[in-house]
Amino acid sequence: MAFLWLLPCLAFLGTAHGCGLPAIQPAISGYARIVNGETAVPGSWPWQVSLQDNTGFHFCGGSLISENWVVTAAHCGVSTSHRVVLGEFNQRSPAEDVQVLQIAKVFKNRKFSGVSLKNDITLLKLATPANTTDRVSPVCLPTATDDFPGGLTCVTTGWGLTNPSAQNTPDQLQQVALPLLTNRQCRRYWGNIPDVMICAGAAGASSCMGDSGGPLVCQKDGAWTLVGIVSWGSSTCSPSTPGVYTRVTKLRAWIDQTIVAD
Ligand SMILES: *[C@@H]1O[C@H](CO)[C@@H](O)[C@H](O)[C@H]1NC(C)=O
Repeated sequence: MAFLWLLPCLAFLGTAHGCGLPAIQPAISGYARIVNGETAVPGSWPWQVSLQDNTGFHFCGGSLISENWVVTAAHCGVSTSHRVVLGEFNQRSPAEDVQVLQIAKVFKNRKFSGVSLKNDITLLKLATPANTTDRVSPVCLPTATDDFPGGLTCVTTGWGLTNPSAQNTPDQLQQVALPLLTNRQCRRYWGNIPDVMICAGAAGASSCMGDSGGPLVCQKDGAWTLVGIVSWGSSTCSPSTPGVYTRVTKLRAWIDQTIVAD
């Protein structure tokens, strides 16, 4: 298995209004990388973050959850020398009206284990707030008790590799619709999967290196809700093997506590 990254007041969170509703509608044609995915409509996933180093190299994804906070994966190893890029679609285009924000603080979950890969979540506090625009707005967080059943079709997005042997990540944001698995179903591929993880895919598409930290979203009451954080999967990004995501419902309390304590 491999990490899917590249080597080499809480009312405003969760189901509150103003989250999970893209101003530009996504268009999802099917169960098509992000191995077997498709190019997204520009701006239609307005919470999608690109985490970049100071050379502009994209190394992980993330999700905007409020004007001041981004959630990503702990294994991405984000530091305050990295930057958050919002409103991006084509990473090669110099013409896009992106917001490049500094990171004030990094809250890596202390229970994250690089061995078990449990609790693969980090919160980033932005140094200055993001501006909400047609192409930049937050995703909803689920409540701790929300249930997202096996078989539910959800969507993951990112600039990860579209072919695991490719040298470069794609320029344009990719998306793919894929079903959730129950942890019991996922056991067939990966052995025991703890409650703090959720599997999705194995239906002809897969997240891949460079997608790590990015969103797995499902619709709940019409609003896109952050169900998973891209964490790990097959080292070949096999479309017939599920990817494993951090299960956000199980970490909702940690998210709330971390933000309150800041
Ligand atoms: C947000 O908007 C304010 C006011 O227009 C502007 O000064 C600031 O630079 C904007 N921030 C970003 C990240 O674009």
